[in-house]
Amino acid sequence: MATHKLLLLAGDGIGPEVTAEVKRVISWLDAQGIASFAVEEDLVGGCAYDAHGVPVSDAAMERAKAADAILLGAVGGPKWAGVPYEHRPEAGLLRLRKDLSLFANLRPALCYPALADASSLKREVVEGLDILIVRELTGGVYFGEPKTILDLGNGQKRAIDTQVYDTYEIDRIAAVAFELARTRRNKVTSAEKHNVMRSGVLWKDTVTALHAKDYKDVELEHQLADSLAMQLVRWPKQFDVIVTDNLFGDILSDIASMLTGSLGMLPSASLGAVDATTGKRAAMYEPVHGSAPDIAGRGIANPIAMIGSLGMALRYSFGLGDVADKIEAAIAGVLAAGLRTADIRAPGGPIIGTADMGEAIVAELAKQTA
Ligand code: IPM
Ligand code: MG
Repeated sequence: MATHKLLLLAGDGIGPEVTAEVKRVISWLDAQGIASFAVEEDLVGGCAYDAHGVPVSDAAMERAKAADAILLGAVGGPKWAGVPYEHRPEAGLLRLRKDLSLFANLRPALCYPALADASSLKREVVEGLDILIVRELTGGVYFGEPKTILDLGNGQKRAIDTQVYDTYEIDRIAAVAFELARTRRNKVTSAEKHNVMRSGVLWKDTVTALHAKDYKDVELEHQLADSLAMQLVRWPKQFDVIVTDNLFGDILSDIASMLTGSLGMLPSASLGAVDATTGKRAAMYEPVHGSAPDIAGRGIANPIAMIGSLGMALRYSFGLGDVADKIEAAIAGVLAAGLRTADIRAPGGPIIGTADMGEAIVAELAKQTA
């Protein structure tokens, strides 16, 4: 059996707590002989800054490059509010994305039937929801230069961020979206602001041209990003795959995640290009939720997004889609049995902690695979 090299970067806040639960699942899969992992661990975010003075060390970057996949918990927290901008915890995450060229960020938003009432939207709007946001992750205003604050010398300052996209960047992310749509309900909605941004004009033209050239079998629709935000809360089931740029994807994926009831539920995958010779691609998997410093260290965080992120690693990096299916079924199973962490608690219902949820998922997994 192939041994998969996995790097765990637990990070800050609730990161270590939810990572402990994913380790429980990894150990179980290993012990059962279902999959074999060589696991390494390192620091990222504020904890790395405390230890090394940088939010991700060069040594950790080397480990990340050598791994078959990275599982990252979360970064950041008020403790590091005063650190220099270039060393803030988020910079560690951004360096991993950029240096590993993880341009394709897949953020599924799936509403488990058992949780339809945890959403702030009506049950009929979200029940059975299954959409996938494909966010461009290494370009746009996150990385465009110049990016600076200038002192104009007259008591004024000027802040500049630059939104920049090249054709190839739009082409490759759109191709990922079209390919994924073919495995789903075969529809892509592309979101930009061509009415105010030149990058939006190029985005729309490039997606349209690629569609005409290679993906005529997929239904393509364009929406302005602001209007799409509105449609997401009005009737989200109209969407299948949404493809958009780095900043719009950041915002739209937070909206999409809340449709499902809790940020604590959603995993994500950040993928690089497939290497033509090895067939491998750099990949990092992480929950969409943040470090939640307000609840960190209390053992009450929801580990489902982190465990789901391992599921995505099995599916997209290790060719173990069948095991990923079982993990997803185990998550659905514990939810159907009424087990809830605080964030997804039914009104007045009982709650369990992080470790109990991890244990319950492993027990359900054991049932699924028996
Ligand atoms: C996300 C986060 C990050 C982002 C932050 C932590 C830098 O919000 O992954 O969505 O803006 O991309
Ligand atoms: Mg975000």
